[in-house]
Amino acid sequence: MRILTLDDFDTKGKTVFLRVDMNCPIDPTSMKIIETSRIKESTESLKDLEGAKVVIASHQGRVGNKDYTGMENHAKVLEQILGRKIKYVEDVIGSAAQNEIKNMKDGDIILLDNLRLCAEENYEFLSPDASQTIMVSRLSKLFDLCILDSFPSSHRSHPSIIGFAHVLPACAGRLVEREVRKLDEIMTITKGPHVLVLGGSKVVDRLEAIKELIQNGRADQVLLTGVIANVFLRAQGRVKFPLGIKREEEVVQKAHSLIGEYPDVFSVPVDIAVERNGKRVEIDVRELVKGDNIFDLGPKTVEYYLKSIQGAGTVFMSGPAGFFENENFKFGTEALLKGVADSFATTIVSGGHLTAALKRYGLTEKINHISTAGGALVLYLTGVKLPMIQALEEAATRYRAK
Ligand code: 3PG
Repeated sequence: MRILTLDDFDTKGKTVFLRVDMNCPIDPTSMKIIETSRIKESTESLKDLEGAKVVIASHQGRVGNKDYTGMENHAKVLEQILGRKIKYVEDVIGSAAQNEIKNMKDGDIILLDNLRLCAEENYEFLSPDASQTIMVSRLSKLFDLCILDSFPSSHRSHPSIIGFAHVLPACAGRLVEREVRKLDEIMTITKGPHVLVLGGSKVVDRLEAIKELIQNGRADQVLLTGVIANVFLRAQGRVKFPLGIKREEEVVQKAHSLIGEYPDVFSVPVDIAVERNGKRVEIDVRELVKGDNIFDLGPKTVEYYLKSIQGAGTVFMSGPAGFFENENFKFGTEALLKGVADSFATTIVSGGHLTAALKRYGLTEKINHISTAGGALVLYLTGVKLPMIQALEEAATRYRAK
């Protein structure tokens, strides 16, 4: 491996910064964590950090979004999963956090508050600049080692992702190590046609990556689901009213250009399921009316998408096809995942929602790789070097040169 791992360091008695990704779905009313798999995945490295003083840090949500909250509940869940005491510190870079870190004993674990409480963590930097942020200047002197284990946010160049690694010895945590090994292995064996089944709600991020994927021969066909499918339906004029999503006109315009540039690549739903009076109602997309909640794909779309999946050499699926947590609307997500699992293609499924869905339908063992990342993985597949991986490679080069 070009990057260092926990096997390269003796962490006993050391104070380590462990950047994980505990960004979980949050109920907007109660602000409780709905799904905890990201927290569970974050514990993987802790087993190899016995005897170290471990300072865990993560972001949760985005400033201004409904899932933006502190980390107190994450600490409780983490404590339950680990069966060990986790000290939650309601601070990130202030004197409270610094004093807690200075007073730690071997074996102690603390969880800092949401990193995005610091303005700096909401900006993209170049690595030398990230290492000069107040966050990194204040905290790095308290740590012996930086462990990067937040694969789902490895496409961000925030101070916690690339800044500490520039000034401290740095290695991958177990989760990042596993993802990089497996993905590097898979990417050498994939063959076409490459079919991308793309859903999810982070439309801006997805649209930016799609073009790269097509141009790099990683997406011969793109089967759209979820919010992004609705954006393309609007761009085609089949949905005639605003969807109420962020930066809507900009993303619709981008989708419009993509369809114009690559007319044979994109497939959009022809029928969908909406919720009317609490019931599932299947309609042609042209029958959609303002106020309809689009919660699933319809049967004709699923049948058509499954044909593409059956003919694929590689399938990558990211983002659920609908509101699968509700029994009335699980049809599309379940059917597509079954199709992916039963195909002869090399298969990669990504993101927390689909990971949970695979477990629910007993399909986990039939997928070649299940990645914890959503947007980061889409970018990884474009062939772009992710900022976190770049930071880890540079740190490894510096460490080996010593
Ligand atoms: C994710 O869930 O994709 C990661 O946690 C990154 O979150 P972000 O898109 O808000 O940076």
